[in-house]
Amino acid sequence: MDKDRGKRLAAEEAAKHVERGMTLGLGTGSTAAHFVDIIGARVAEGWPLKGVPTSEATRRQAESLGVEIIEPHETTVIDLAVDGADEADPQHNLIKGGGAALLREKVVAYAAKKFIVIADKSKRVTALGAFPLPVEISPYGWALTVAAMRRTLVEQGFQNAKLELRSIDGNSVKTDGGNLIIDCSLERINDPARLEKALNAIPGVLECGLFCGMTDMIIYGDEDGVSVSTL
Ligand code: A5P
Repeated sequence: MDKDRGKRLAAEEAAKHVERGMTLGLGTGSTAAHFVDIIGARVAEGWPLKGVPTSEATRRQAESLGVEIIEPHETTVIDLAVDGADEADPQHNLIKGGGAALLREKVVAYAAKKFIVIADKSKRVTALGAFPLPVEISPYGWALTVAAMRRTLVEQGFQNAKLELRSIDGNSVKTDGGNLIIDCSLERINDPARLEKALNAIPGVLECGLFCGMTDMIIYGDEDGVSVSTL
């Protein structure tokens, strides 16, 4: 399967929901990058559009394409947010954060009047969990927070959970906000909303990568076209 073509087609379909004058939440990752490209092309055609970026990488891309950037603290209105996902289930629960941008992505998606997810079809799953769940935590007392997460996961039925501090070449990965990512291998998550609430209740956890009850539409693409899921 040509995943990149699927991502592009999904982004093009999402762009049909963009109207002149909108303030857009711009997601992070290889799929969202296609959407940002399309927005850049619209701006070049003269469309008045503004973008709230969910990462520094997206900010650089959008700026290089001439998209006017709005800082998240400069607006209370986001008309439409479009972002990718690492996994999505039939109830539109998501795992996000593979690109370490999940806190900013969630702030923007939650604020948006409409949140559209774009993904190649390999991201569609019957149950979440094969993709390790990213959780963004504060660096302060991080080992204590991880210990608390482990206890919560056992209480939630994940006796065999494996928690790993995300690192590259021995250096811990820092998010754009200077935080850490803990990847939790859980295998299968039967009640994502319950787990999201339990993890987010731990002091030191800034956000977990479960996005439940937030997604209005998922557009899946493959080389033959797109399929649109609404609830
Ligand atoms: C970034 O933190 C993530 O949530 C991405 O949206 C997610 O990892 C999907 O990325 P791709 O579109 O590159 O698969």
